[in-house]
Amino acid sequence: MRVPLELRRAYKLLNHGPTTLVTSAAQGRTNVMAAAWAMPLDFEPPKVAVVIAEGTFTRELVDASGELTLCVPTRAQLEQVYAVGSESGRDEDKWARYGLKPVPASRVQAPLVEGCVGWLECRVLPEPEVQRKYDLFVVEVVAAWVEDSVWKDGGWDFPEDSLRSVHHMAGGVFFTTGERVQVQKPRKG
Ligand SMILES: Cc1cc2nc3c(=O)[nH]c(=O)nc-3n(C[C@H](O)[C@H](O)[C@H](O)COP(=O)(O)O)c2cc1C
Repeated sequence: MRVPLELRRAYKLLNHGPTTLVTSAAQGRTNVMAAAWAMPLDFEPPKVAVVIAEGTFTRELVDASGELTLCVPTRAQLEQVYAVGSESGRDEDKWARYGLKPVPASRVQAPLVEGCVGWLECRVLPEPEVQRKYDLFVVEVVAAWVEDSVWKDGGWDFPEDSLRSVHHMAGGVFFTTGERVQVQKPRKG
């Protein structure tokens, strides 16, 4: 079940470096693309940096709306992740083509992707020079959600392989998120 996550904990959804799905909505269209280059920037209010390349349809919709979502997909969705990262939605509806289901978000028009395990609803903080020069978008997280079956003791804990988040190396080669290991803080003195 998708449950809200406190904003000050939102960074935990991306701290382990998963590949994300970026959704966008404007001009009566919605879209979804893969983004591996997304990282947390701050705790509270939570901010994230994500690269959205010039020329993508996503860039056009994000520029028009100032909003996006970052969703954390699973191993079970790998083929869809790779497909929406390999094709543009400009001329076709990738949702329908690749069987991804958009569901309404709470604070932004861009939809959430059903079946993911984490979701961040974000508003773009205007940094036109950085956007133009580096394709880098700094966004503020305005709502966060997590799938409660993969969230234990305040963090990710994957009970089954199909629900693990994924990490893209290159060319369609992915890793899945591995074992959760607790390390103790070093003792002083
Ligand atoms: C696994 C994966 C990760 C990707 N990461 C990014 C990224 O971080 N930033 C980006 O701009 N494009 C990234 N891409 C490429 C876009 O997803 C791709 O250009 C997509 O077709 C754009 O779709 P659109 O035109 O519908 O927006 C990635 C592709 C894959 C397969």
